[in-house]
Amino acid sequence: SHPLRILGIETSCDDTAAAVVDSERTILSEAYRTQLKYHQPWGGIVPSIAKKHHYENLVPVIAEAMKDIEWNTIAAIATSVKPGLVISLWQGINFTRQLLHKYSHLSFIPIHHMEAHALTVRLTHNVSFPYMVLLASGGHCILGIVEDVDKFYRLGETKDIAPGEALDKSARAMKLHEHTLVRDMVGGAAIGRLARDGDENRYQLITPKYSAKMKDCSFSFGGMLSQINRVVDKEAIYCGSATSDEQQLKDFAACVQASVVRHIETRIHRAILFCDAIKKRQWKRTLVLSGGVSSNLYLRQRIHDLCSHYGVELVCPPPQLCTDNGIMIAWNGIERYQRSLNVLSKMPEDLVPEG
Ligand code: KG4
Ligand code: ZN
Repeated sequence: SHPLRILGIETSCDDTAAAVVDSERTILSEAYRTQLKYHQPWGGIVPSIAKKHHYENLVPVIAEAMKDIEWNTIAAIATSVKPGLVISLWQGINFTRQLLHKYSHLSFIPIHHMEAHALTVRLTHNVSFPYMVLLASGGHCILGIVEDVDKFYRLGETKDIAPGEALDKSARAMKLHEHTLVRDMVGGAAIGRLARDGDENRYQLITPKYSAKMKDCSFSFGGMLSQINRVVDKEAIYCGSATSDEQQLKDFAACVQASVVRHIETRIHRAILFCDAIKKRQWKRTLVLSGGVSSNLYLRQRIHDLCSHYGVELVCPPPQLCTDNGIMIAWNGIERYQRSLNVLSKMPEDLVPEG
């Protein structure tokens, strides 16, 4: 006999990933294929390309994740069903359906991708409910209190685009996909890398200042991105530009990163004050950062400083578990299985993914 084991499958965007995790928090296997280079020529994720690569990758990815594991030792398959690119989610769902048919002892656990981001930290650290979480990714920016596995209180979310999208589009405008040092990185990571050697005070970029008017913890990155695009155009700050140089690129990257982080910082600051003031919103004064943007080390440092000032403990999953992966989906499956939360004996006939 062995601890509870679950296979997790993730296809919500452009990564095909699978992993097996057990209830003693052991990662037994992990497999992953990124499609970044196939989408890059188009400047964004192309649904039909994502579909094709998920379809081709799922067989080898699952085979790799299950290489040294017997199917009869697995209790369930956990698969992302929302939110995400519907065409991508379908690939994971259809493949899961085939596996459930072939290995009929398996249960099925539908997974909410953002819930998985919010719970990942409990695989790597001892964090108990309720805790505050920032979920910052390519499609989302949500600040809230994780009250239980399936109970989430929203303090605020983005009114327009997510910080990852702002970073990806900034990187695109700066043509970082043509930059020898960072061209294989996703936009946010490319900016983070160049920013290391940049001067964040060289350009004055705005950060939304509506905190006096809006007494919540909402975000807005749209105005910031417009300004970034304007400055890039006006000063020709892009890779290969005839008038700007490498240092200018690095300085601008540092400014972009700093303005995104500054905005997140002010919202978290407000959230801490709010939760301390409103006693009915209990939390254990632990803040968790998760989602792809939270793998950013500058963000972690800045939020760490803020937290120290307020006596809040900051806990972050390792950077590679902040970006999309199969491990977090499997772990979410473990958390749900242990509490019998929507553990299904078979996949519903009418299951459809949600965007
Ligand atoms: O969670 P994730 O992998 O996928 C979504 O669910 O969206 O997040 C992807 C986002 C992308 O926008 C990417 O540019 C950003 O996370 N990202 C980063 C870093 N690594 C990935 N942003 C800033 N710094 C990084 N190191
Ligand atoms: Zn994600």
